Amino acid sequence: MPPSSGAQVTVRAPAKVNLLLEVGPLRDDGFHDLVTVFQALSLAEDVTATAADVFALSVEGVDGLDVSGVPLDGSNLALRAARLLARHAGVGGGVHLHVRKGVPVAGGMAGGSADAAAALVACDALWGLHLGLDALAELGAELGSDVPFGLHGRTAVGTGRGERLSRVLTTATFHWVLVLSDGGLSTPAVFAECDRLRAAGEPDPPPDRLRAVEVALRAGDPQLLGAALANDLQAAACSLAPDLLGTLGAGRAAGALAGIVSGSGPTVALLARSLPHARQLAADLRPVFGADRVRTASGPVPGARVLEPVSSHLLHHPEIGDPL
Ligand code: C5P
Repeated sequence: MPPSSGAQVTVRAPAKVNLLLEVGPLRDDGFHDLVTVFQALSLAEDVTATAADVFALSVEGVDGLDVSGVPLDGSNLALRAARLLARHAGVGGGVHLHVRKGVPVAGGMAGGSADAAAALVACDALWGLHLGLDALAELGAELGSDVPFGLHGRTAVGTGRGERLSRVLTTATFHWVLVLSDGGLSTPAVFAECDRLRAAGEPDPPPDRLRAVEVALRAGDPQLLGAALANDLQAAACSLAPDLLGTLGAGRAAGALAGIVSGSGPTVALLARSLPHARQLAADLRPVFGADRVRTASGPVPGARVLEPVSSHLLHHPEIGDPL
């Protein structure tokens, strides 16, 4: 648990699913050029930053989420984010970060990047820096390709290695069922497998996939979006974790509009027609995969934002009622 005394800020940052993930050629810097469409989902990480003399971290999983794969040392992305911001802004001292994880670890949903985004916003507020979203996103890009999106949220096209963002008009909320895997997949390993499959003669992808996703989002039509979902890393993720093919098949057989591996996997995202449909789909899939492995989520949601503490006068205000 976070220390209870001293100044404290809690920030929530979202998971992401890639509605489209087009992988271009390998660049000289070891990254691939991407054209991707991110959507921020209601599955989230909450990071509480508490003033402290040194940098320290604690982690807990929400709803039985397995957090054993999360590094607790200096390689943790939230800690690296706090240290980077302190260095950048000339802040002395440290911070204690408590991470409540709701996003699967190494699951292709940018949980670690959400931690970094949340830590940047939380420390910016705790230290009274007021750097602004663009400056934080620039720092975030040094930590990972998905961190700027964790800060911005909503739905966005990402180019470059995924860190250059532009907003996409979306007229509806979409409802998802996520099937988690027991283990994680290494992102570099999945990109490398994608390169290997391509070198072995994988066919070229069809054109105009970005336009199809944009049209579906603008129409707010889950059916159209289901038909437009595409992920160039999916074949590579399935090659490294063949069970995913069965998960995708089970999702479609249960009535999902479409199923896709999320990012580099291994989480599978199943698109539903509506919120009741997502709930039904999840209920049907829990006996198949186990309750711990099936979650529902909706998107788009905002990027990393401060959660206001609930003050006691609001809790007892007769016109406002219970804000929770
Ligand atoms: O930026 P991030 O830390 O998430 O990247 C992790 C790894 O994933 C990179 O080191 C690289 O191997 C791979 N990657 C890539 N092309 C991208 C993003 C990530 O090859 N656009």
